[in-house]
Amino acid sequence: MPQSPQVGLTIRQKEPLNLETATDQIDSFLTPAELFYIRSHFPSPDLKITSYELRVSGAVHQPLALSYRDLREMPSKTVVATLECAGNSRVFLVPSVPGAQWELGAVGTAKWTGVPLVALLERAGIAVDACEIVLEGADRGIPIEPPVPPGPISYARSLPLGKALQGEVLIAYQMNGRDLRPDHGFPVRAIVPGYFGMASVKWLTRIEAVREPFQGYWQTSDYGYWEHFLDGMPVRRALGQMPIKSEIFRPRVYEIVPANQVYQVFGAAWTGESEVTEIALSTDGGRTWTEAKFLDPVQRYAWRRWTYDWLTPEQPGKYTLLARAKDARGAAQPDRHDPKHGTYVINHPLPIEVFVGD
Ligand code: MTE
Repeated sequence: MPQSPQVGLTIRQKEPLNLETATDQIDSFLTPAELFYIRSHFPSPDLKITSYELRVSGAVHQPLALSYRDLREMPSKTVVATLECAGNSRVFLVPSVPGAQWELGAVGTAKWTGVPLVALLERAGIAVDACEIVLEGADRGIPIEPPVPPGPISYARSLPLGKALQGEVLIAYQMNGRDLRPDHGFPVRAIVPGYFGMASVKWLTRIEAVREPFQGYWQTSDYGYWEHFLDGMPVRRALGQMPIKSEIFRPRVYEIVPANQVYQVFGAAWTGESEVTEIALSTDGGRTWTEAKFLDPVQRYAWRRWTYDWLTPEQPGKYTLLARAKDARGAAQPDRHDPKHGTYVINHPLPIEVFVGD
């Protein structure tokens, strides 16, 4: 019997499709497409290569309408980037909060191939007063989180112009050397390395240069947070860069590990516009920390997997493992989740409770 392409993923929501990676099954630097998490707000649109069109419009001198073939004929670039959903690890928040209850697996790393966004923007000629680039997908629907708009909306996010002009931001058509799968944005999606996954708009059909900051639903209402200012007036900001984070992939939560034996703890660490430089592990709930060993070299925008040989205690019982990373900017994972981020940006060390068996 043919296998479903989603075997091995865990369902968080069936419609629209939201699936997470079983992180304990990760054993490679690149996450295979069939293991890669899927985060969609609306049903996947059924786009065809033959009728596909990407429009570049708004504050540009020369609006463009590009076919799939036009894109494939342009010079391409390949970038390895880790995507993490901003709500990844939400299940670890105490008290629990609404939203998809992601555990550890709304994260993955892939090799993306496509046309740099900057090449399209150069071809269209950006107006001097443009400040952001809006990316819009072909999927539409009514979001579930209030305030609910009066009718269907599309999925759209903007990028600050400076980020949009970075050569690594891709209008991608391949993932790990193969055409994108339908749920990952076929035929064309944006890839915004260093940003949370919400910026990497799937099923991309419109690129719009704008002169005013974009205030769309997914930019302000959802995927936004309250920034506190010294004068006491909080303002709403759009989520962007991923801060430093690490996760333990093995052992799993509540896994029973043998006593008095070497167990290879395994995980990964990633960050936004910087490099992961340090990783430490605690096997006693955060009282003491020891350096772990990186498996991957530094590569901006890609995670670094790491391991640690843990000589498990002789004493059976429950033990709490934590990982904590630092990046080249000197940023370390915070002790606690910052409430200003609401139900997003969950990058504090996540407690992985395991049992040492008899
Ligand atoms: N793009 C569109 N058009 N619609 C979406 O719902 N979800 C975003 C982003 N791009 C989304 C989208 C979110 S929140 C994430 S985390 C990533 O896609 C997930 O990409 P993936 O499903 O390929 O893993």
